[in-house]
Amino acid sequence: MAEFTLPANSKVGTGKTYKAPAGAKRVKEFKIYRWNPDDGKNPVTDTYEIDLDACGPMVLDAIIKIKNEVDSSLTFRRSCREGICGSCAMNIDGTNTLACLKPIDDVKGAVAISPLPHMPVVKDLVPDLSLAYAQYRSVEPWLQSDSAPPPDGERRQSKEERAEIDGLWECILCFCCSTSCPSYWWNGDRYLGPAVLMAAYRWIADSRDEHTGQRLDALEDPFKLYRCHTIMNCTQTCPKGLNPAKAIGKVKQLMLERQG
Ligand code: SF4
Ligand code: SF4
Ligand code: FES
Repeated sequence: MAEFTLPANSKVGTGKTYKAPAGAKRVKEFKIYRWNPDDGKNPVTDTYEIDLDACGPMVLDAIIKIKNEVDSSLTFRRSCREGICGSCAMNIDGTNTLACLKPIDDVKGAVAISPLPHMPVVKDLVPDLSLAYAQYRSVEPWLQSDSAPPPDGERRQSKEERAEIDGLWECILCFCCSTSCPSYWWNGDRYLGPAVLMAAYRWIADSRDEHTGQRLDALEDPFKLYRCHTIMNCTQTCPKGLNPAKAIGKVKQLMLERQG
């Protein structure tokens, strides 16, 4: 697994305030976590006053506006701006979510923004997801079969078989769920967390995959799977409306069934 460095000091001070332009009528404050690994300073919260009459409706619109027009040093990830790539996951107003899907008007008062919690920070709003990606790779998230494919090359499924992976394949690996899970906060080095466990179940549940037994064997571990205590934060926070806690429950059920 990758090694990580945490910010030297997690105490967050008060940073700069960037005032709205003169004449702005609909001003909203955005309080954003800032940390630069290169300046040797503690993290701070900078405050940006944004004129909502000159800004798009989503939190990501405001962050992009800040970077383009106010403070080009603000660092964050984004790509699709429509809830598909998972890049813009961050903590907004106390909840892990996607900035591009979060309407500014949903937040009363100032909009507090920080990186996904309990992850090492690369800079500002960018978490280090190396461990999460390594864990994702560890569940071998691709179709595995020993039998040759049919002559036409298609491994077919019935409608019912295909329906078994609905609610699983839609995951965009934003890791909002894993970083909301107390078990993952405290044991993230050994517990796989809801995003990765749901990815594992996505292949266990796929009728075309022939390595179900090996996949379950690989999860039979006191930490990888069984650190889930069904607290349900993961399902409550998923910005795609998915249910990783249910997927984890199904893996546990399969474990019980095969023990007889
Ligand atoms: S249900 Fe399991 S995975 Fe989800 S938040 Fe709770 S402990 Fe974490
Ligand atoms: S289950 Fe939801 S919150 Fe978790 S990684 Fe997938 S899309 Fe993100
Ligand atoms: S920018 Fe792709 S999910 Fe938000």
